[in-house]
Amino acid sequence: MKRTRINQVLKSEEHYKDPILIKGWVRTKRESKGFSFLELNDGSCLENLQVVVEDKIDTDDVLKDIGTGASVEVTGDVVESPGKGQKWELQAKQIRLVGIADPETYPLQKKRHSDEFLRTISHLRARTNKYGALYRLRAELSFAIHDFFHERNFFYIHTPIITGLDCEGAGELFRVSSLDMENYNQKSIEDDFFGKKAYLTVSGQLTAETLACALGNVYTFGPTFRAEDSNTPRHAAEFWMVEPEVAFADLEEIIDLAEEFIFSIVTHIKKHSASDLALFSSFVDKSLPERLDMVQNRNFERLDYEGAIEILDQADKSEKFQYQPVYGTDLQTEHERFLTEKYFQKPVIVYNFPKDIKPFYMKVNPDNQTVGCLDVLLPHIGEIIGGSQREDNLQVLENRMDELGMNKQEYEWYLDLRRFGTVPHAGFGLGFERLLMFITGVSNIRDVIPFPRTPKKLDF
Ligand code: 4AD
Ligand code: MG
Repeated sequence: MKRTRINQVLKSEEHYKDPILIKGWVRTKRESKGFSFLELNDGSCLENLQVVVEDKIDTDDVLKDIGTGASVEVTGDVVESPGKGQKWELQAKQIRLVGIADPETYPLQKKRHSDEFLRTISHLRARTNKYGALYRLRAELSFAIHDFFHERNFFYIHTPIITGLDCEGAGELFRVSSLDMENYNQKSIEDDFFGKKAYLTVSGQLTAETLACALGNVYTFGPTFRAEDSNTPRHAAEFWMVEPEVAFADLEEIIDLAEEFIFSIVTHIKKHSASDLALFSSFVDKSLPERLDMVQNRNFERLDYEGAIEILDQADKSEKFQYQPVYGTDLQTEHERFLTEKYFQKPVIVYNFPKDIKPFYMKVNPDNQTVGCLDVLLPHIGEIIGGSQREDNLQVLENRMDELGMNKQEYEWYLDLRRFGTVPHAGFGLGFERLLMFITGVSNIRDVIPFPRTPKKLDF
């Protein structure tokens, strides 16, 4: 018999005529006169299926070994549940114990555990309600992202994980080498696997630009790596980024796309993951529905960097920021959160930052001081998106690279895009984990990725 998933059973409007087979893990077992009740979860949804095992059926005496965490297979009839809270339950005909979970040592006995403790058992935490819901949301969000771009004629492309270049120029690179580290000093770079320095990518953007300048609209969605030694709740060393890149587009078009993107993703997840989402507004963050509605109202505030600094400078007197907001420095998380949570009380898009604090590839504005770029800021999160129009003028780009002392030879292929049929083009990068934090209200990035990688922490 083919197994049925619990989410199918629970949402079924009609009676199942034939017996079904369910396979899952026991959350709790309760015994009463003449019956045992098992709460069974198979990961397909938040809800458990109640299984009723009458004492009179032949269980091969396995019930005594079935407790929290055990895996079982149950064949039975779906019947209307007389109990509260569920429409259907399963009347067991046959039950098989697949794997026991020793109650002395199984760490997920029925009680609430702290996020910190659960991080130490990341290999088991997906079996709790909260983390099960999180990883289902992660999957649904990924699907929503592909759906959004597919509907709009974007092509999903794959950009390299191993690269020779530092796209962002921030020097936060992980080296990739096949040399034996212990004897590294005795070797020269020619001995290394690629015969040159290699790194894990910090962004797929530069290669995505090449495909955008051929296919028109593309996006990449993959893991990126940054050796930022900042132990904050918003930074991971390995995180996923969604990066659309659009040919024949300017800054305004990409700002519109960013706003529409966030709006659509939130709409999708509210529609398709309501019960998983409800767990977070009940148990993690009561103000979550309000914040999600805020995005759906759609009128993100748009202002330039100079305007943002003016507001922050005024506010500094009363807010006493840790970092003084001065023209020419990057916005800090405390500034971003002030703008979204206190000042505008909605999502904010800041554009046209000074060129000196931004990477080489951004389009220089006519003022020759700022570049055509954007940051999308969300309440609770701060920066979720960074992007820009790209410099499409060969001469200006070469000058910029010279100013920054970059080795142009390594970028000949990138410069070719400006030599041959150059077009204005623009794109952005959205941090996928930060999106999940926004959607669930979870406040630490370590809890929205199954196996987080952070400074001095590489478990599992
Ligand atoms: O603003 P960033 O650095 O932009 C880029 O990398 C561009 N090349 C993207 C593009 O235009 N195609 O990073 C983009 C986003 C940030 O806004 C943030 O959400 C996320 O990536 N991010 C991180 N998320 C988690 N941990 C980190 N250490 C992150 N660093 C950036
Ligand atoms: Mg950024």
